[in-house]
Amino acid sequence: MGVCQADGTRAADFRYVSWEIREGAHKIPGLPCLFDEDETAETLVIFLEDAASSLKLELYYVVFADRDVIARSARITNGGKEAVRLEKMMSACLELPNGSWEAIHFHGRHAMERRLERLPLMHGTMEVGSRRGTSSHQHNPGVILCSPDATEEHGGCYGLSLIYSGSFSMEIEMDQMDSVRAVCGINPEFFEYRLEPGEAFDTPQLMMTYSGSGLGRMSANFHSIIRHNLCRGKYKFARRPVLINNWEATYFDFNEEKILSIARQASELGIEMLVLDDGWFGSRDSDNAGLGDWFVNTDKLKGGLTDLVTGINGLGMKFGIWIEPEMVNEDSRLYREHPDWALTIPGRKPCRSRNQLVLDMSRSEVRDYVFDSIAAVLKSANVEYVKWDMNRSICDVYSAVLPKERQGEVYHRYVLGIYDLMERFTSSFPNILFEGCSGGGGRFDPAILYYSPQIWGSDDTDGIERLEIQYGTSFFYPISAVGSHVSAIPNHQTGRRTPLATRGVVAMAGSFGYEMDLNLLTEDEKEAVKAQVEDYKKYYDLIHNGDYYRLTSPQGDSGFTAWQFVSGDKTRTLLNLVITHVRANAPDLWFKLRGLDPEKRYRLEENGRIYSGSALMNAGISIPMIMGDYPAVQMVLTEV
Ligand code: GLA
Repeated sequence: MGVCQADGTRAADFRYVSWEIREGAHKIPGLPCLFDEDETAETLVIFLEDAASSLKLELYYVVFADRDVIARSARITNGGKEAVRLEKMMSACLELPNGSWEAIHFHGRHAMERRLERLPLMHGTMEVGSRRGTSSHQHNPGVILCSPDATEEHGGCYGLSLIYSGSFSMEIEMDQMDSVRAVCGINPEFFEYRLEPGEAFDTPQLMMTYSGSGLGRMSANFHSIIRHNLCRGKYKFARRPVLINNWEATYFDFNEEKILSIARQASELGIEMLVLDDGWFGSRDSDNAGLGDWFVNTDKLKGGLTDLVTGINGLGMKFGIWIEPEMVNEDSRLYREHPDWALTIPGRKPCRSRNQLVLDMSRSEVRDYVFDSIAAVLKSANVEYVKWDMNRSICDVYSAVLPKERQGEVYHRYVLGIYDLMERFTSSFPNILFEGCSGGGGRFDPAILYYSPQIWGSDDTDGIERLEIQYGTSFFYPISAVGSHVSAIPNHQTGRRTPLATRGVVAMAGSFGYEMDLNLLTEDEKEAVKAQVEDYKKYYDLIHNGDYYRLTSPQGDSGFTAWQFVSGDKTRTLLNLVITHVRANAPDLWFKLRGLDPEKRYRLEENGRIYSGSALMNAGISIPMIMGDYPAVQMVLTEV
């Protein structure tokens, strides 16, 4: 913590006062946090005080014993008579026993998010974080500290994951005594918060788990707590519809007939929902204009949304829509009417990204406008899904309505504003499935999953690139949280050609859909898509509700990536394999399965062969090298 007292001193000496254990999970005002679904959680509160200033500190430890997770947050209250300035207020400081640890973190960039990097600790401080106002493509708000020998199945690992969508910092320090400390929370850079007498400030919550049996167990703990105690709403466990999104099929160039023709073809193949992406509103014919003007572009959709949705519903399909509520183009009616609603710094040229500015979401009148205008669209037709996008990071951090001594609060107030808006939308439209997005996976964080149970994984839809992105994502996030689509070849991001079957296998490790003009497929390909959709529906329960195992890493040089889903009762498993490097005269691929019952006997559906769980897990199974570019295999084994 860093606090500047009213007299300018920067001292605070918090001493223990008392403790208390409360039933249930502590709720943090205005911030998403874990809730107590099964009424089994308890909260330990430790009270401290800085006697000289009367600042009071409460440390909350919410214990989910059954899920092996503790969530920590803090609240500071100004009990004194004068205002103080918080300069740093982190969520948790975890002191680890002496010993050697390695750090794993997930870095990336647009269209290549959450790449795993593993490093030994150094004396001094390592930091991952974001100063972009969003959790960012560049670093995910989670780190793992593990023993140097930790693997998927062995070794100790502490996983830390912050429930926050703004600028964050995760510092890992090894001191002169080789003690290790992880300090996680809101990034102190560009952060200041003025606390008036009687006011309190709450930090976001940090989820912490420990596994003594490797990274796989650690991930399973996160998957379970996120699915049960963070995701909410109708679609928390309900099957999500298989969707077709028109973005890579049309970009901005569409009209009602084009969208309907994509939907018609999709419905014939068993796809259940059409998502109309960017370009349906205002004067949005390119990314230069229109953001902020949330009314239907009737040049493109002549009969408005109602006709289009009626047409789509008539095909037996649901309809979903894309929005980007936090943004404005200068070429828009909204900006012309309210230029001061955008975050810009007086007297300086605004910094544009994708030709757009960011709306000041710390202001309630801005949020009201956004809510009212978008809610009117959602009410005007039978909209059953919303993709909430956010296509730039934030700079020009200055709010036209805050006094100068409060400008350091803008980044955090922005995030609180977003949570307020998301809460309004999700509670007003409880039947809508929300999907988060931020230029793909630029705001793929646990907090967003409190409002939307899935997030578009990445703008990179290439099946091979997605292996690495989805592998990295799986360390903290459940499969059900990852939006993943089959797209056209050559792939629009890489130009690579991969078989349709492989794209399907990769996209099935997520919330599944398509992102292409299915009318352009051959008849054989259409049949293959139909079979893929059926397979996904058949395996849905296993994929979304089963246990997930990473069998190999796409980052190694094995030339293949394998993963596995196992049903909760261990009676069924789905094995997935993508060969990323086919070699001539290669030996068979061998790998050992996980998570099965050693005593059970399993039949391989493909050829009827029977194996014991013990043999599959200890000796493994072999697959002959398949020829061709990037082949994939899916195999199901069921208890006999
Ligand atoms: C972002 C999203 C894409 C698409 C475009 C539309 O990049 O990640 O999926 O919605 O915006 O502009």
